Amino acid sequence: METSSLSRRFTSRFIAGRTLDEALRVASQMAGDHIMASLDFLGENVTSIDEAAISRDSYVKALDGIASRGLPATVSIKLSQFGLNLSEQICLNNVAALVERAKGIRTRVEIDMESAEYTDRTLNIVCQIHRRFGGHVRAVIQAYLYRSEQDIARLSEQRIPVRLCKGAYREPAGVAFQQKTEVDRNYVLLMKKLLETGEYPAIASHDEAILNECLSYVREKRIAAERFEFQMLYGIRRDLQRMLTQGGFRLRSYVPYGDAWYPYFMRRLAERPANLLFLAKNVLRG
Ligand code: FDA
Repeated sequence: METSSLSRRFTSRFIAGRTLDEALRVASQMAGDHIMASLDFLGENVTSIDEAAISRDSYVKALDGIASRGLPATVSIKLSQFGLNLSEQICLNNVAALVERAKGIRTRVEIDMESAEYTDRTLNIVCQIHRRFGGHVRAVIQAYLYRSEQDIARLSEQRIPVRLCKGAYREPAGVAFQQKTEVDRNYVLLMKKLLETGEYPAIASHDEAILNECLSYVREKRIAAERFEFQMLYGIRRDLQRMLTQGGFRLRSYVPYGDAWYPYFMRRLAERPANLLFLAKNVLRG
């Protein structure tokens, strides 16, 4: 299913391409529009050490492509794709090899946050890598988790850059806010903290109300546009992306590519019921 031509048609809205070359071409076009990129080689939950090594090597190739084209791009990885479920040490070694290469070309590795069972282990690895390489890594914090305010304080103290998102996994009420209004309220609170005390934060959202709140806040506090960036997902709210770049703000687009699109694509569908209609129309048109 992941490699069929039908699937290519209905996933193309959210997935930039199947190959690294296609993703690099998209990132080059974006650079022409003053949009930075973060390349995501799709994949998660590998089941063998060999598969984890293949993920690492694919990302090293992505960094080589970024360097040879001189693109303003980072890479985004998932630790379950780097072997976290198999061995924490092997995962750490894989991430270290990648971050070493990222440091060599003066970019950074962004470490996506997966479901809550991974939060502690993921942040531990981020902190170890940050200490070892003196930066070149970014953590992701999810506003739906109750713990996130404390995590942000800890990361900001160590001057580790954070990408703030709402959170894309289904989590129980014991660990996460369940209502959109509660998540949004917490997002705004954490966003303000990061803008005030965080290290080059990334505000990752397509929520117009939140983006407007951010713009008013940076205006009120006179926070320079170079001190933070916005991030959005490939294919979502291009109108807002244009509005931000035209306003002189930094914007990075998260660019997924590869064949293992299924879990990523399902999360995007779940975020917005209207996407199911879009999918149905495309499948029927075929
Ligand atoms: P919200 O869901 O309230 O949507 C606001 C508006 O945005 C919608 O009304 C709609 O217009 C548009 N929109 C949002 N999602 C859409 C979709 N799928 N299709 C079409 N329109 C849509 N999560 C996570 O758990 N770990 C991670 O590491 C990351 N990483 C990450 C990186 C980047 C760059 C972004 C932008 C997001 C993530 N996320 C993530 C996903 C994030 O947690 C969240 O699920 C989505 O961004 C949707 O939340 P919004 O903030 O956009 O708001």
